[in-house]
This record gives sequence, C-alpha cells and structure tokens, in this order.
Amino acid sequence: MAQSNLKAYPVWDGGVRLFHWVNVLTIIGLLAIGLVLMFSKDLGITDEGKILLKAAHIWVGYVFVVNLLARFVWAFLGNRFARWKAILPFGKVYKAQFQAYLQGRKIGRDVHFLGHNPLGRWSVLLMFLLMIGQGITGLVLASTDLYMAPFGSQMKAWVAEDEAAIAMVQPYQKQGVDPIAYQEMRDFRKPFRTLHTYFFYLLMFSIVLHISAVIVEEKRRRNGLTSAMITGEKVFKEKPFDAD
Ligand code: HEM
Repeated sequence: MAQSNLKAYPVWDGGVRLFHWVNVLTIIGLLAIGLVLMFSKDLGITDEGKILLKAAHIWVGYVFVVNLLARFVWAFLGNRFARWKAILPFGKVYKAQFQAYLQGRKIGRDVHFLGHNPLGRWSVLLMFLLMIGQGITGLVLASTDLYMAPFGSQMKAWVAEDEAAIAMVQPYQKQGVDPIAYQEMRDFRKPFRTLHTYFFYLLMFSIVLHISAVIVEEKRRRNGLTSAMITGEKVFKEKPFDAD
C-alpha cells in the first residue's frame, strides 16, 4: 500500500465554518432578491409585490448582519486562526508572513500557509469592509423604505404630519405623511441607496475574485482548501509556515 506523507492540520474552528456557510447562503438569498428588486419595473412587479420582496430581503439581511456581528465577536474568542491577528493584513505576524512569502517567491520556493496567506488577508479585509458597508446601508434603507428596524419608528416620526399621524404612516402610502418632511427623508436616503448598489457591484466582484483564487490555489496546492471549510482541516506534505 502506498504510504502518504500528508499530514492534516486543524485550522478553521466551528465558529468560522458556521459563519462562512451562513454568510454564503444569506448572500445568495440577498443577491437573488436584490436582483429581482433591481429589475422590478421591467418585470412588472406591483407595489404589493415589491413590499413583499423588500421585506423578505430585509429579513434575510438581518440574519446576514447578525451573523457578521457574531463573526466579529468570534474574532476575539475563536481559535488563533479565527482571530483578528490572523485575519487582518497588519501587525508583526503579518509582516513576518509577508516577508517569508516574498522571499519564497524570489527563490521560487512555495511557502505554505495554514491560515490565510498574506494576499488572502487583503481579500478578507476587502470583503469584510464591503459587507459592513452593505449591512449599514441596508439597515438605513430598511428603516427609510418599509419603516422596519432599526430606525423605522424614528423615520415614521420624521415624515408624519404630527404625533397623532405617526401610527397612520405606512410604506408606499401618503396617509398621515407630511410631503416636505417626506421629501427631506428621501433626500437623506438617496446616497445610502446609491452606495448599496455600488457596494453590491464591488462585493460581487470581490466574491468572484475570492472564488477564483480558491480554485487556483486548490488546483495548485491540492491541500483541501475548499473542504477545510467543512472539515476544519487542511493537509500538507511539509509543515506550513504558520503551524505550531
Ligand atoms: C450582501 C449583502 C446584500 C446584497 C448583495 C444586497 C443587494 C441588494 C440589491 C442588488 C438591491 C437592489 C438595488 C437597486 O435597486 O439598485 C438591494 C436593495 C435593498 N436592500 Fe440589499 N443587499 C444586501 C444587504 C442588505 C441588508 C443587510 C439589508 C437590510 C437589512 C438590505 C436592505 C435592502 C433594501 C431595503 C433594499 C431596497 C432599496 C430600494 O429599493 O430603495 N440589503 N439590495
């Protein structure tokens, strides 16, 4: 029987893996509903239909935001590969890894990493920033469009004719709404909508880059990069630079 000199090393803990797959699923959901919303006019969707789609997008969005926040908390609690020090492209550890990576490239010798490699850290940072942007703008849109959490009641109070009319304010309806205050609120909302659309394009671009990099690395190194997000382990012939 052929003897394998591959060794499995634990890397992604349960928290990271759970975050990753909930993130993937919610982004697919948000992307699908978001695209339908984007083309809702061409698709002939009625106002009622739009309200329903937006509410569904927002509820999936809440799961996405809570999952993202939980990941940020996990970056203080998880194993050493889950922590900020191993994710962000800053600090002493990053510098040492980057130097080793460059040195390896110079002499044509691959340096293997168990956690993110130095370039991968930049890609993680970019995706986290875009997801934070998408989360914040999305929450403002949810509040200013369907008057949903987190600021829906404040928005209702802003656009209502007076205090007594607050309860009458409903999405897509003019009842109890002061037209000038409503216009002010819509003007406030506009840049968030623009950003939400641009962040969406950028996030899609960064996801395509991320998946392409995973495919290239997986084919080149054959160390179980993809399955590591399920099993938590990667396999290597030689000890990775950042292993214990
Ligand atoms: C990865 C995350 C997200 C993606 C990819 C995404 C994608 C999109 C897209 C493509 C649209 C249509 C934009 C347009 O018509 O120009 C949209 C609209 C919207 N999104 Fe998101 N979204 C995300 C996160 C969120 C979150 C977290 C929330 C709130 C909890 C949210 C709330 C909304 C709302 C309320 C609209 C309707 C805006 C309007 O029609 O004026 N989104 N989203």
